[in-house]
Amino acid sequence: MAAPVVDAEYRKEIERARRNLRALISSKNCAPIMLRLAWHDAGTYDAKTKTGGPNGSIRNEVELKHAANNGLKIAVDLCEEIKAKHPKITYADLYQLAGVVAVEVTGGPTIDFVPGRKDSVVCPEEGRLPDAKEGVSHLRDVFYRMGLSDQDIVALSGGHTLGRAHLERSGFDGPWTYEPLKFDNSYFFELLKGDSEGLLKLPTDKALVEDPEFRRFVEIYAKDQEAFFRDYAASHKKLSELGFNPP
Ligand code: HEM
Repeated sequence: MAAPVVDAEYRKEIERARRNLRALISSKNCAPIMLRLAWHDAGTYDAKTKTGGPNGSIRNEVELKHAANNGLKIAVDLCEEIKAKHPKITYADLYQLAGVVAVEVTGGPTIDFVPGRKDSVVCPEEGRLPDAKEGVSHLRDVFYRMGLSDQDIVALSGGHTLGRAHLERSGFDGPWTYEPLKFDNSYFFELLKGDSEGLLKLPTDKALVEDPEFRRFVEIYAKDQEAFFRDYAASHKKLSELGFNPP
């Protein structure tokens, strides 16, 4: 599909949608699932074949039915309310904008947002997103395929500062932190503390303290929230722009 024309009018529409997303996400407390939607649309990117990525394809039934996307129809439907008010904005831009706003309204860093992503109806094959039951080498395989680094893996995993797992969606249960609607660096210090009553650690979360290269970043982010926010904002921007050449 053609790229949207990013003129002054499109940019104004993005700002209007941003305001509506802030209101929607605050009133529905749906920041976690909006961030997960943005990540799952983008995280299918394959740098070699330049397929997948933040292109709105997750809205299509085939992709939404991939096991990794269980539960995300809720977020797709919420975004539809915004799309109805701002039909010019592509789904690809809308989902990434929702991810950026979700981090912002829960107290996280401001992430630079560049509009102009094209929509696609082509769904990537199932299995490109990470499997939570796996470990260090699987994480590297998946994120390197996207063109991302060890530092990106650790910083972006900090997204689990928001939200929780739901037994009926993933087979896992519970939040990673005691304040799952607050974006801060608590994911990292909980990770270093080890198992805590009521908190979840996926095998892929634990992998971040097992590997020395990953652990270096976990230790920095657990101590220094500013360093986490700075690096998270940079890695999130990269994730949101995989395969996208801004106009
Ligand atoms: C939730 C796996 C990376 C953001 C989840 C869930 C799983 C999972 C199993 C629970 C889903 C449910 O039951 O509702 C993974 C794995 C990752 C990863 C294996 C590999 C590193 C990320 C990244 C982000 C992210 C990079 C964002 C930057 C979230 C959020 C939730 C979540 C916000 C909570 C959703 C909610 O509360 O509804 N993830 N994830 N995850 N993930 Fe990840």
